[in-house]
Amino acid sequence: MAAKAQKLNPDGYVHARDVEEYQRLRDQASMWQHATEAVLDRVGLKAGMSCLDVGAGPGAVMRLMADRVGASGRVTGIEIDGKLGAQALADLRAQGGATFAMIEANVLELDTVPGAPFDLTFCRLFLMHMQEPVAALEKMFLWTRPGGTVVAQEFDFGAIAVEPTCPAMAEFNRLFEGVFRGHGRNLRAGRQLPAQFEAAGLGLPDGTLAEAKYLPLKEMAPMLIGVYQGLFGAAAELGIADATRAEGFKADMAEAAADGRYYCLTPILIAAWKRVA
Ligand SMILES: C[S@@+](CC[C@H](N)C(=O)[O-])C[C@H]1O[C@@H](n2cnc3c(N)ncnc32)[C@H](O)[C@@H]1O
Repeated sequence: MAAKAQKLNPDGYVHARDVEEYQRLRDQASMWQHATEAVLDRVGLKAGMSCLDVGAGPGAVMRLMADRVGASGRVTGIEIDGKLGAQALADLRAQGGATFAMIEANVLELDTVPGAPFDLTFCRLFLMHMQEPVAALEKMFLWTRPGGTVVAQEFDFGAIAVEPTCPAMAEFNRLFEGVFRGHGRNLRAGRQLPAQFEAAGLGLPDGTLAEAKYLPLKEMAPMLIGVYQGLFGAAAELGIADATRAEGFKADMAEAAADGRYYCLTPILIAAWKRVA
């Protein structure tokens, strides 16, 4: 891994925006597909409905939405990264299945969204990147029709671990927590959803759903290495990145993954939802 010290994005997003990171987002989306499908089904997303995905990234959740709303339904995304959003929209339209739109914008700077109010307003792995998550939820609330549903599905990093203890995980945690804390990001976004819903005026959630996985480290090591690499630029800005350490991390992680005895407890993906009165 050639650790790249690329600068933090102008909007403050801590992950890199390059081909490797876009692929990591797609791999991450595959990993958590069933957890998101379970929530979409639980809140009753059905044929003909309209939905909004905030911080849509590569469009994987928009695909799951389209599979449920079908040809008579509408699926809109908001994504600040124009390149990623345009690719997502092209892929979605090529596959078809619903009417798609993508808005290139910072969600916090939008007053209205074409197509609002929606039956479902959704975000995944998005509030954890916001310095003002409640302001983002307030927007989602505003863009949801009475009787519609607001859903957020966010990671909680409170339990992430590798067992038995391995040096690579200590280095991962050092860099990851350093970047998240150093840039004012939230390591406990998942568990804080009920309080944030309440602060946004939605009231406490109608329901929550949580999922974690416990996997052989060899299945998680590429993701952990990808996250580390993607955060390296933000870590460099904080003065906590070190190319020699990065090489050591990658070698230690590869060795532990090949060993076969190490298992990884993933972050917990926690969803909360609320029907709007
Ligand atoms: C971790 S990715 C998650 C993508 C997708 N929701 C998923 O679960 O696969 C977060 C996405 O939110 C986007 N994003 C970050 N801040 C944003 C903002 N203020 N407005 C719109 N999009 C934003 C990022 O560019 C990135 O694509």
